[in-house]
Amino acid sequence: MASALHEKVKSYYSSLETGEDLQTSAACPTPSRLLSPSARAALQQVHPDVCKRFFGCGVVVPEKLKGCSVLDLGSGSGRDCYMLSKLVGEDGHVTGIDMTAELVEASKKYIQYHQEQFGYTKPNTVFVQGYMEKLTEAGIQEKSIDVIVSNCVICLCPDKRAVLREAYKVLKEGGELYFSDMYASKVVPDAFKEDAVLWGEGMAGALYWQELVFLVKELGFSTPHLVAASHIQIYNSELQKKAGDVKYASGTYRIFKLPQHSIQTKALVTYKGTVPDCGDHFALDASYCFKMNVRMDVDAELAAILQYTRFSPDFSVEMTDEPDPSLDSAQQYRLLNPFQLADRLGSCMKQCSKTSSTGACSPKTASGNCG
Ligand SMILES: C[S@@+](CC[C@H](N)C(=O)[O-])C[C@H]1O[C@@H](n2cnc3c(N)ncnc32)[C@H](O)[C@@H]1O
Repeated sequence: MASALHEKVKSYYSSLETGEDLQTSAACPTPSRLLSPSARAALQQVHPDVCKRFFGCGVVVPEKLKGCSVLDLGSGSGRDCYMLSKLVGEDGHVTGIDMTAELVEASKKYIQYHQEQFGYTKPNTVFVQGYMEKLTEAGIQEKSIDVIVSNCVICLCPDKRAVLREAYKVLKEGGELYFSDMYASKVVPDAFKEDAVLWGEGMAGALYWQELVFLVKELGFSTPHLVAASHIQIYNSELQKKAGDVKYASGTYRIFKLPQHSIQTKALVTYKGTVPDCGDHFALDASYCFKMNVRMDVDAELAAILQYTRFSPDFSVEMTDEPDPSLDSAQQYRLLNPFQLADRLGSCMKQCSKTSSTGACSPKTASGNCG
């Protein structure tokens, strides 16, 4: 299975001591304003040695995880897994999968520590060494996972279709893939793949953001919803020169595995205010924000998401007979472009100063109607 590119990535990440060893702003510490109060509290309980080797490029904490079975693709040192271990609770379960033996061993060392931190009678987290392109071979059962997360990993995989196909396979119907990754402003030249640092930093393998929607829809997922984005700065001047006019942004998207034939008509939906940490409003992404007890008109696909995923008890949905005028491509372009969203959120995300900022805006609500 392992290709030369996989081996390059393994040796790149085994050699990094801390997130600061990366050459871009991808692995900034997560600003606390981007986390819900529960996630913030959970992160504070993660062991500092685990956090030190955080190499992700975004925040992968979807709402309403209690009792869920969660899979983290490319779990690295395990920071997100341990944060999620707290959020799923003792009856939930988290599996981290990573191909780099050294990181898997490092993450395993803290299982007991976090079990004790969270006051669980038995651990709810396991780490598996394996490839994301071969999840079932690595022992992950088909249709067994409620939520998959991934933080800055798919850009390192040569075969993104295989990764997403396996993710679809192991998700339960109604399950979600919520992932943060690095995207390019244009198709990246093939020559970038020859450079070990460009590949290791994710710059050579980053998908041109417009390609994502076709890829995921072809595999049966819903249209991606863009949750958050920020521009990625390249610190190293030599790498900057190599990147030329290709720009990079981190984007967090959520996509759903819906039951077949579930997308039918437009609907009027009302949020009940019941998603934990989202009392008076629930922001599904940077564009859709549902206020409690306010009826909203949604397209057929969004109606299906609110009816057939774990959010279904949180909405009342009245189907209409209206035909669904699907989004036109200009509108879709605006909703899905991480560079545009990063521009809009610029004042919040401007400086990855390697310290948490205390700014008051939230990417999820910046463009919606809840802010
Ligand atoms: C940029 S790091 C991110 C790690 C972690 N998600 C975090 O946020 O700290 C990328 C991780 O993905 C893993 N990885 C890359 N390609 C993989 C693949 N095809 N299968 C499994 N793991 C992979 C690497 O070993 C590395 O630990």
